[in-house]
Amino acid sequence: MDDFLRVRDLRKGYGEGGARIEVLEGIDIDIGAGELCALLGPSGSGKSTFLNLVGGLEQPDGGTIEVGGTSLTELSGRGLDEYRRDSLGFVFQFYNLVEDLTIRENIEVCAYLAGDPLDVDDLLCSLGLWEQRDKFPAQVSGGQQQRCSIGRALVKKPRLLLCDEPTGALDYETSKEILALIERVCRDHGCTTIIVTHNNAIGQMATRRLRLREGALVENEVNANPVPASELEW
Ligand SMILES: Nc1ncnc2c1ncn2[C@@H]1O[C@H](COP(=O)(O)OP(=O)(O)OP(=O)(O)O)[C@@H](O)[C@H]1O
Ligand SMILES: [Mg+2]
Repeated sequence: MDDFLRVRDLRKGYGEGGARIEVLEGIDIDIGAGELCALLGPSGSGKSTFLNLVGGLEQPDGGTIEVGGTSLTELSGRGLDEYRRDSLGFVFQFYNLVEDLTIRENIEVCAYLAGDPLDVDDLLCSLGLWEQRDKFPAQVSGGQQQRCSIGRALVKKPRLLLCDEPTGALDYETSKEILALIERVCRDHGCTTIIVTHNNAIGQMATRRLRLREGALVENEVNANPVPASELEW
């Protein structure tokens, strides 16, 4: 399988002098197109930092990140904006919806920015949000809000889907629903996906399991027999 994401000697720290902390101390990862990866590790181990670097939201201190043959580290500010707009879907723990837009409008604004978006009505149906389409975020449940934020990420058919604790604010049943949705999207659209999570069980649904600890990648295992999200238990 061709590598879609190639990370070499990636380094990132924060602060100056004695207050300086090194978060990522030389990370190397290759991820094939269409893989569904779980990125595990204790709190503070740099999972979000890694995702933000790959998402072009932060700049590394050293090393390189290549996505689909493009070197992010060589892109200008404008090039990075285009990368985020055209290639990337980002799902956050706390949804990041626009409060005064309806569920449908939240997805539509992302569709407007895309070259060849998915059909918004079809997407609303497949997300199970058709009945909620004219409501505002505050009028729907947390799981429905997270489905909407996944819709915002997906409507542009991203080649790379990055999810930072997408079920961190959700109950058990809703979490499983959201994970099944991400699993289906990854399969149907072939997007390469990384899910950051504290939950080891989520690692079982992934085709590759990554684990960060103390600045290093301490696990990078291919999982030949992923468990369907609907069958996960924790
Ligand atoms: N903007 C920042 N300025 C200074 N320190 C930061 C910044 N962002 C992250 N850090 C520090 O970097 C380390 C890694 O943070 P990060 O958010 O990547 O961890 P994480 O693995 O995502 O943790 P969690 O599971 O709690 O979300 C932490 O010690 C954090 O305090
Ligand atoms: Mg985090």
